[in-house]
Amino acid sequence: MNFADSEIVASILSDDFEITSQEKEADLILVNTCSIRDNAEQRVFNRMKELIGLKKSNKNLKVGLIGCMAERLQEELLNTMKVDLVVGPDAYRNLPDMLRNHTPNVNVILSEVETYENISPIRYDSNGISAFVSIMRGCNNFCSYCVVPYTRGRERSRNITSILDEIRDLFQKGYREVTLLGQNVNSYNFEGKNFAYLIQKVAEINPLLRVRFATSHPKDLSDELLQVMTKYNNICKSIHLPAQSGSSTNLKRMNRKYTREWYLDRVESIRKHIPDCAISTDIIAGFCGETEEEHKETLSLMQEVGYEYAFMFKYSMREGTYAHKHLIDNIAENIKTRRLEEIITLQQQLSLQSNQKDIGKTFEVLIEGTSKRSQVHLFGRNSQNKVVIFPKGNLQKGDYVQVKITSCSAATLFGDIV
Ligand code: 5AD
Ligand code: SF4
Repeated sequence: MNFADSEIVASILSDDFEITSQEKEADLILVNTCSIRDNAEQRVFNRMKELIGLKKSNKNLKVGLIGCMAERLQEELLNTMKVDLVVGPDAYRNLPDMLRNHTPNVNVILSEVETYENISPIRYDSNGISAFVSIMRGCNNFCSYCVVPYTRGRERSRNITSILDEIRDLFQKGYREVTLLGQNVNSYNFEGKNFAYLIQKVAEINPLLRVRFATSHPKDLSDELLQVMTKYNNICKSIHLPAQSGSSTNLKRMNRKYTREWYLDRVESIRKHIPDCAISTDIIAGFCGETEEEHKETLSLMQEVGYEYAFMFKYSMREGTYAHKHLIDNIAENIKTRRLEEIITLQQQLSLQSNQKDIGKTFEVLIEGTSKRSQVHLFGRNSQNKVVIFPKGNLQKGDYVQVKITSCSAATLFGDIV
């Protein structure tokens, strides 16, 4: 989301500023921040100190902090960090005025309607092939551990026409993959048009345009969407379906609004509709009150689903959330660490097993560029979002190619062009 938001900010500032990749050259540096876990915030604090230090050699330099931390910490940042500007995720349109008038230097007003729908993002850090397209903002789910509903405000869906126009334009410019983004894309609703309808319209723009989406909340993943996915080859067979935990009692404390059984039913439905669909997840280790038994249920859920990929975190208490106010962060750090390690070790095995099953199969790969490790290899992804590396041949990025898999690691598939 922040990657996409930064492209919107670049667009909003494009009349007044040119982009540079050299921080020493810049007169304005904005750090787009995330509040989701404490270590994300600590990294930002360290980075901000470095950047503010650059003011010694450039008296014109302004350093601003934008995004979720701006929302969460507000004026506190001006006092503790000597930043010039603090701007929350719904106030980016005010940046040019704030910079021209030098005041006020804090704007963290959240909006119920802002979707930046008519802003055409500047893809300044893009490979020219894949782009993120924001389709909704905010979140109404209030999972008890999560700060997002407080920092990003209420859920709102972007105008469908502006989404489709943006994607048509991307395709014409040579892009071949879009990822539709929202905290919970399955609750997209613009004037009665739902996500299944939207993704169908996007898929129909051109069969050569791949469509991905993130993130799906399990409580809202509909069979209607799965049916649409079966009809269009260019909708990628990959669903990010964060479970967070495999224990119904833990899920209840997390306010996830589904049980283990409900989650497994959704997985079964995915398998039934799209047998070769990759499923990935987010897992939190050591949430308030998590028993050893509940942790084991998470491991067994992971086994049962056989995730292709997972993002795995230690629970990090966030001020202002329900868990902060009403539950106790009572799992000792060493236990959180051990549980997380068990989760990570298991996921590595599952990823490797999944990749090993792909050896001998042939996949359509969209080429994204030259492999980072080898000039004579290209890399791209298959529909399941797995990275595939293969010898270059006469191909270039943006091309589709059939690759037969010959070997793998837990993270990557290797193969030859067929
Ligand atoms: N502590 C740890 N992980 C968290 N996430 C969200 N809030 C927290 C928290 N307080 C994780 C969830 C979510 C992902 C984006 O970040 O797994 O899906
Ligand atoms: Fe946070 Fe839950 Fe909303 Fe995801 S769905 S952003 S975890 S509150």
